[in-house]
Amino acid sequence: MDELLDDGELLSTDELRRLQLERLRSTLRHAYEDVELYRKKFDAAGVRPEDCRTLDDLAKFPFTTKADLRDTYPFGMFGVPMEDVRRIHASSGSTGRPTVVGYTQRDLDTWADLVARCIRAAGGRPGHKVHISYGYGLFTGGLGAHYGAERAGCTVIPASGGMTERQVRLIQDFRPEIIMVTPTYMLTLLDEFERQGIDPRTTSLRVGIFGAEPWTEAMRRELEERFDMHAVDIYGLSEVMGPGVAQERVETKDGLHLWEDHFYPEIVDPLGEQPQTQGERGELVLTTLTKEALPVIRYRTRDLTRLLPGTARAAFRRIEKITGRSDDMIILRGVNVFPSQIEEIVLATPAVAPHFQLQLTRRGRMEHLTVVVEARAAATDAQRADAAETVVRRVKEGIGVTVEAHVVDPETIERSVGKFRRLRDMR
Ligand code: DLL
Repeated sequence: MDELLDDGELLSTDELRRLQLERLRSTLRHAYEDVELYRKKFDAAGVRPEDCRTLDDLAKFPFTTKADLRDTYPFGMFGVPMEDVRRIHASSGSTGRPTVVGYTQRDLDTWADLVARCIRAAGGRPGHKVHISYGYGLFTGGLGAHYGAERAGCTVIPASGGMTERQVRLIQDFRPEIIMVTPTYMLTLLDEFERQGIDPRTTSLRVGIFGAEPWTEAMRRELEERFDMHAVDIYGLSEVMGPGVAQERVETKDGLHLWEDHFYPEIVDPLGEQPQTQGERGELVLTTLTKEALPVIRYRTRDLTRLLPGTARAAFRRIEKITGRSDDMIILRGVNVFPSQIEEIVLATPAVAPHFQLQLTRRGRMEHLTVVVEARAAATDAQRADAAETVVRRVKEGIGVTVEAHVVDPETIERSVGKFRRLRDMR
């Protein structure tokens, strides 16, 4: 596929490793000199920035967690004076104080460059129209995608999330080639197209750039088939930047190239915090290499994946599609269950729609997981009963745990407008 590459994408592996070390050493110095929390943490661990002589030396430095950001709320981890901070974003999280992140002008430029790189990798070209349904505001999704799409030379339609009926009309009238949205909100849009009597396969959309929440290969098949479009994965998190840390290529769809000229990845064992050997699954840990306003050293993302060698961009390693977060893992009678495993099963069951929720309840001392899933409109009572049985059997066979499944009427489960809360913990 013809494509303009930026300088970072043209680096050889040797050049990349040299650049990473140089940038890592300068980030460690910046963190130590300009952020009190890092100075204290490095001192407590007995390490100084100059102890980092090779990339492997990074493992001597302490981790950073979401709790560090919360404890220094709102701006305690900023590494530049406030007058150099051009923008602030925040993520609400499910509990406690929001985590607040900041960007200098150079950080914002890097972010736009990297999202532009993502859009090109997804097949976007100057002149394409990009419909953005990630929420605008403190969430990084909307504005992050927005400036990246502009930087890529595309025409931006800043729809933001919600007002689903209007989104469908805008897509019909403005005819965008690309949509950037969470995969679960794309399902909501799908229903709305059908409700308005429009065949989703006839829209102008050719590529969907989906992220901000885990989604499976089964979901990719569903969205590609029903919209007749390519579905590719974009990853990112506000603490490290926002969307655009890693991106899947449209030709290969084989995991996400991590933009290693700006972020250094490690994989650790989620429990023991030991480094994993090459190619093993574990928790992704990220260190920013160029961030000024909020340098982040060894951030524990909680996202579970593994590192794979680069393909289309040989120098940049890939992360495997993220299966879930360690904090989303349900431990049911000793068995680990991820919502994404249930998603694979639900989406492979014909009589039910891709809309489902998981309910965790306690009866006596026993914990129960119930899969509540909508029937497809045309499903008969017999097909519904059969689908419920199929889900229960496939979960038992595939994951090794007994769950209940309730097949409910169409349009009774809450719809996503952004990141969908799949699990209801009712214990
Ligand atoms: O969700 C940034 C983003 C916006 C990424 C739009 C992609 C598209 P946060 O709100 O800070 O930032 O949430 C970050 O969302 O640690 C993952 O658990 C999850 N996540 C993001 N992208 C993916 C993905 C944005 N492609 C958290 N697959 C991350 C799986 C994802 N999980």
